[in-house]
Amino acid sequence: MKMSFKNFPMVTRVVYGHGSSNQMDEIVKSVRKNGHPIIYFMDHYFKEKPIVQHIPVKKNDQIIFIDTTSEPTTAGVDQLRDRLKEEFGKVSGIIGFGGGSVLDTTKAVALMMNNKGSSADYQGWDLVKNPGVYHAGVPTLSGTGAEVSRTCVLTGPDKKLGMNSDFTPFNQVILDPNLTKDAPEDQVFYTGMDCYIHCIESLNGTYLNAFSRSYGEKALELCKKIYLEKDVWDDESREDLMMASWHGGMSIAYSQVGIAHALSYGLSYILGIRHGIGNCIAFNQIEEYYPEGVKDFKKIIEKFQIEIPNNVCSNLSDEEMKEMTKVALGLEPLWENALGKNWKKKINEKTVRALYERM
Ligand SMILES: NC(=O)c1ccc[n+]([C@@H]2O[C@H](COP(=O)([O-])OP(=O)(O)OC[C@H]3O[C@@H](n4cnc5c(N)ncnc54)[C@H](O)[C@@H]3O)[C@@H](O)[C@H]2O)c1
Ligand SMILES: [Fe+2]
Repeated sequence: MKMSFKNFPMVTRVVYGHGSSNQMDEIVKSVRKNGHPIIYFMDHYFKEKPIVQHIPVKKNDQIIFIDTTSEPTTAGVDQLRDRLKEEFGKVSGIIGFGGGSVLDTTKAVALMMNNKGSSADYQGWDLVKNPGVYHAGVPTLSGTGAEVSRTCVLTGPDKKLGMNSDFTPFNQVILDPNLTKDAPEDQVFYTGMDCYIHCIESLNGTYLNAFSRSYGEKALELCKKIYLEKDVWDDESREDLMMASWHGGMSIAYSQVGIAHALSYGLSYILGIRHGIGNCIAFNQIEEYYPEGVKDFKKIIEKFQIEIPNNVCSNLSDEEMKEMTKVALGLEPLWENALGKNWKKKINEKTVRALYERM
């Protein structure tokens, strides 16, 4: 029987602090089992960067650089799983260094090491059958909340959807604000806005409860401090955003995201637009649904002098528009959270398409 109150797992262990990622050697000691290697997935940006020298590669451990030119796909995850199986048979664990793309790839491949078939078979809610191998996440960009969430978002053959399961959350997370220092400014902004939008969508959703609200409010308070109140972007801003991302992710664990995310998934599926920027493009046009949140968002983009792309859908065919609308409307829990149980009476193909036409 389905439980009426969610009983969800959390990240088992977490370390926080400037330089804390240098503690990796101690952390992985107990993870290495029966001579099976530890695999490090690192965002390709770190190839030939000094951080690679600090990875405690021992014996048959291996670093694999993950190309994040596009966000993760089920095919890419399956390929990595096949490669690890072929080369090593078993691995002791996988540790991912990167933004949401590498964190999600890490979670997905760790699960697929112990589950048959394609990761596309498990896109959805609670479809994963067996626990994965040990997996740890080390964020190098803050905002997605992928470090705490019970999902790993993948683009598959017929949808963009995560593998949501009790086995998905990390066994270990290392929060080291130093690692987010060199990320490109615009990317830091867009991924930061992902966090801001998580807060607005969670706090204004019908799924909200006191548990979720307590995390969402803290995350929003931190976002407002760094994006609206402060005049400089400094070390403290990076620390605050790292913790806002964590709390924002915790807030959605017991609620859901909403309309900007549903629309952004469509933009990503058809146009390949990245998650953070796609959320901004969508959120910018939905003031009628989130009046306060969008008003502040407009202040933020003006303050940070960010140009949100527009007319992104203008060259799409009728077929593509239909497909995009279908992807967005397929994310039923997101619409239900945003608009309530009767959401189908409040939004339909025509209204969603009209929103896309504004973008
Ligand atoms: N699992 C979840 O709960 C969840 C939630 C929200 C979003 N997501 C997913 O997260 C992904 C987006 O993640 P993201 O916004 O963190 O971006 P990302 O991981 O896609 O990275 C964006 C770019 O930043 C670069 N980069 C990352 N860290 C860097 C650093 N420290 N220095 C320099 N460059 C760096 C990468 O090379 C890449 O080019 C999407 O696939 C989205 O679906 C997952
Ligand atoms: Fe998001």
